[in-house]
Amino acid sequence: MRERYASGISDETAKKMIDLLNANLANVIDLTLDGKQCHWNLQGTGFIGVHQLLDETSDRILEVSDTIAERIVILGGQPNGLASRVVKESILDDYPTDITEVDQHVSELTSRYKKVAETLREAIATAGDAGDEDTADLFTEASRIVDKDAWFIGANAPKK
Ligand SMILES: [Fe+2]
Repeated sequence: MRERYASGISDETAKKMIDLLNANLANVIDLTLDGKQCHWNLQGTGFIGVHQLLDETSDRILEVSDTIAERIVILGGQPNGLASRVVKESILDDYPTDITEVDQHVSELTSRYKKVAETLREAIATAGDAGDEDTADLFTEASRIVDKDAWFIGANAPKK
């Protein structure tokens, strides 16, 4: 391991947190790319509102990935943001390339936000149980951001 700057936790806990953070980093990077894919490809009624919203959600999810990656370094690990690693590790399948309408994209991206939010939520508990409250707090903030943007994106779906 590299030098660890986070104090008061064991090497074993740090290692566990690094693995947990890297797993979530892959998901969050994948979600960031999915957001862009959606931003570029959607069309139809409501386009401009969702298109512009996705600029804002893109900034926020990018910030989440940065916070996760930096915590990995603080813990003495190496953030793995390589595209090949993201493809291998992410829980998300490839974003569909055969959808066009705003409604389809909103539904697709919202379900992806929810999936990633689930893993972040689990990570809060895992980090808390391992005794790294700082990492648990990081995941709590990330979870709150992803939940909120799931809402911001998902609320654009037509009323059923
Ligand atoms: Fe853009």
